Amino acid sequence: MDSVYLQVAYFVAALLFIFGLKKMTHPRTAVKGNALSAIAMALALVIALVARDGYVFITVGLMVGAAIGVWLATTIKMTAMPQLVALFNGLGGAASILVAGAVLMLDPHQQAHELIATAATGVIGAVTFWGSLVAFGKLQELKAFKKPFHVPSQQMVNGLLAAFILAMCALFVVLNTGHGLVYVVIVLAASVLGVLLVNSIGGADMPVVIALLNSYSGLAAAATGFVINNVVLVVSGALVGASGLILTSLMCKAMNRSLTNVLFGVMGEGGEVADADEVYRNVRSTSADDVAMILDGAQRVVFVPGYGMAVAQAQHAVRNLAKVLEEHGAQIEYGIHPVAGRMPGHMNVLLAEADVPYEQLKEMDEINQTLDTVDVAFVIGANDVVNPVAQTDPNSVIAGMPIIEVGKARTVIVIKRSLSPGFAGIPNPLFAADNTLMLFGDAQKAVLEILNAVKENL
Ligand code: TAP
Repeated sequence: MDSVYLQVAYFVAALLFIFGLKKMTHPRTAVKGNALSAIAMALALVIALVARDGYVFITVGLMVGAAIGVWLATTIKMTAMPQLVALFNGLGGAASILVAGAVLMLDPHQQAHELIATAATGVIGAVTFWGSLVAFGKLQELKAFKKPFHVPSQQMVNGLLAAFILAMCALFVVLNTGHGLVYVVIVLAASVLGVLLVNSIGGADMPVVIALLNSYSGLAAAATGFVINNVVLVVSGALVGASGLILTSLMCKAMNRSLTNVLFGVMGEGGEVADADEVYRNVRSTSADDVAMILDGAQRVVFVPGYGMAVAQAQHAVRNLAKVLEEHGAQIEYGIHPVAGRMPGHMNVLLAEADVPYEQLKEMDEINQTLDTVDVAFVIGANDVVNPVAQTDPNSVIAGMPIIEVGKARTVIVIKRSLSPGFAGIPNPLFAADNTLMLFGDAQKAVLEILNAVKENL
């Protein structure tokens, strides 16, 4: 293909990526944004294929990849989506390492700028791949990843490792020969760094790490774009890298953390974890019929969803209950914590799927200001994001994390199956508060029971 046409086609793909991203900034236009970006990716792929000879291998690879992608997308449970995204990020990093390594094997005499790009790809790709695998283990709540493994003087080890990697990268660029071996050393050292960096992060900081790994996968792709001289890969990688960094910064702000604190603050054991039996001594449980009576005459009702709503797929039932209450004069709002669930925007996606009006979704800071005038606050499968310990215990693993202060409402109804802890693994004193009633059960089933009881009451 003529190089001018090629560059124009790449330019169009890059523009489509940018317009796609722009549309993704609002829930109403996000689906269109996704479609535009998918078209851009398809265009970039087709152009890359047409631009070269002998694309049998690539076509076979594409077909195998597409088949696995379709299989995963159609069979994966919604609740396992965050782990899948972590894996995808990691595979992006691994692909970048392999592509840069292959180019190095084909042409060991690269120019300085290409060597710099190759070294950067090796470092960022390896940190992304191994970091994402550890993140996968944590999100999947695998036993081995529940607590970080102990590395003596971890920060010093990380610092020394980073210095060693930098020195190896410098050597890689100035060497006349032996690049392959140094590249392998760089990738191995960066792999260890990736594991160590994410190993120490957990609790309230996981969301920040996920956003950051997403950004790294884009940066690795952009660096690979320089290695293989592919403009659209540089542009799309840079877009993923930049948007991931913006998301990381938003997450840090929302979680009241600084990035250095997340990356270099080794997560402790979280001090003494309170004895659950002691914390839950005064828990009071309730029934759907009693909740229906409490709702009778309620003027303001707020729903605070969490990961359990995603597990139970209770969003449609919640929406139906909200509709009935609204028809009987109640003002309905949803309090959305920035890290509720297991991925950024998790609750927004679920509630949008159930056609909840966007205006009813209130961000944490906004809803917190008026929670003391709320009659009934429903906590639907949420735990850590409403745990007051974040504000009262400086040694807790979630210390400093802002929460939705549902305890201020007149009555709090918590719907969950048991008194089990959430992602952070600590008891929640909210469940034993004077104004809290626990409705034990699967969120969908429990909300449907309340809905039936409310309808009978009317
Ligand atoms: P969690 O604190 O994880 O609590 C979820 C609760 O849902 C559990 O206590 C569980 O209790 C309940 N549950 C599970 N299945 C249920 C079902 N079928 N019906 C009813 N309840 C059910 O969730 P959260 O409050 O949303 O907080 C999110 C946590 O995940 C935070 O710690 C956050 O840092 C972390 N995290 C977030 C992200 C992002 S980006 N959002 C990423 C990684 C980690 P039972 O077992 O008793 O039912």
